[in-house]
Amino acid sequence: MSTFIYRDHTLYAEQVSVAECVRQYGTPLYIYSQSALSNNYFAYARAQERIKVCYAVKANSNIRVLNILAGLGSGFDIVSGGELARVIRAGGNCRNVVFSGVGKSSREICAALQADILSLNVESEMELDAIADCARHTHIQAPISFRINPNIKAATHPHLSTGKESDKFGLHPEQALALYEKAAGQKELSIVGISSHIGSQIFKAAPLEQMLNELLDIVDRLKANGIALKLINVGGGLGVCYRDEQPLSIGQYISTIEKKIAGRDLTLLVEPGRSIVASAGILVTQVQYIKKSATHKFAVVDAAMNDFMRPILYNNFHKISTVQEAHPRKKLPYHIVGPICESADFFGSNYMLALASQDLLAIHDTGAYGFTMSSNYNSRPRAAEVMVHGKEHMLIRERETHDSLWHNEWAPAQ
Ligand SMILES: Cc1ncc(COP(=O)(O)O)c(C=O)c1O
Repeated sequence: MSTFIYRDHTLYAEQVSVAECVRQYGTPLYIYSQSALSNNYFAYARAQERIKVCYAVKANSNIRVLNILAGLGSGFDIVSGGELARVIRAGGNCRNVVFSGVGKSSREICAALQADILSLNVESEMELDAIADCARHTHIQAPISFRINPNIKAATHPHLSTGKESDKFGLHPEQALALYEKAAGQKELSIVGISSHIGSQIFKAAPLEQMLNELLDIVDRLKANGIALKLINVGGGLGVCYRDEQPLSIGQYISTIEKKIAGRDLTLLVEPGRSIVASAGILVTQVQYIKKSATHKFAVVDAAMNDFMRPILYNNFHKISTVQEAHPRKKLPYHIVGPICESADFFGSNYMLALASQDLLAIHDTGAYGFTMSSNYNSRPRAAEVMVHGKEHMLIRERETHDSLWHNEWAPAQ
């Protein structure tokens, strides 16, 4: 059940009126639902006992979001030292942290070793050597998994594909096998597992199952050579419904995987991001002006591409609705655009809405890859974020101010 619903023709986040939140915190405003977060998390965590959910921090890295997930027992998939620092600050347990990414710096690797994380997912031979150097330098044995690139097409947007040969991620299986042998001979390295992540917004089980088969084949070949793995990490990537897509059932997906690894002494790791936070967030924005050209009607809103990039970056559709539902006005087709000086600054075309200046709009399913991808382009302070839980709401990130724009910049004395 959605946690953003209309009651008496006005949009609510759980039991909090969205209009009330806007009165208190202004727009543009990200509003998240704690119940949606935990329901989405438990769709994975309750599916099987032998599963470790490592939430992909990049999807939404707000410290309160991480803190809630840590409280539910979640681990974390990180891709930078900054994300590690956020997890620690949020009270996350580093023993449940896995570190992915093709370009981990020595500083980041050393910090991860010192934090005693569960696994570094190695993506190249040079990275393996760098990890061994850091392990010698810190005198901490490095727990490693190799990330496999199984050359599988995930049938998703090209920018969201990560498991094809032409993608920069992971290692060819044969290359990985050779590196497992190399790592097995180094006492500063401890081989713990294997991982893969073939992309995001995936709706078919077949590519994911094919990836798992590839991983299990490598597990078997390693075992025959005396290398036993403990962790098998199948990444994230399950798609969510933005318009009318049919997502895979998380429960079914996990139990299919579980069946395939049944009887093996392996712990299953998953790294979901989008499927945990996307539906847990909306971006609320206010219509500034209605504008007509010879061919189009534009609703110019106060959020912009710097606040939410997905429509332009991935040409992605998001539902947009008015916060107040009942309108005597006629619905007309509007292009929803922001104030930034780029024609790319739009949220969507031909939305049938009844609009006037000052109306509030909710852009739905913006909890994932929303605020985390925002920027200060056009010197726009970034939006505020609010967490709603039942009847309670809490500001979890203040709106930036003009001063915060040049906080780290040289400026003349005043
Ligand atoms: C290594 C890794 N794991 C997990 C994820 C999360 O993917 P999703 O948000 O589609 O679940 C990503 C996203 O890009 C990723 O790169």
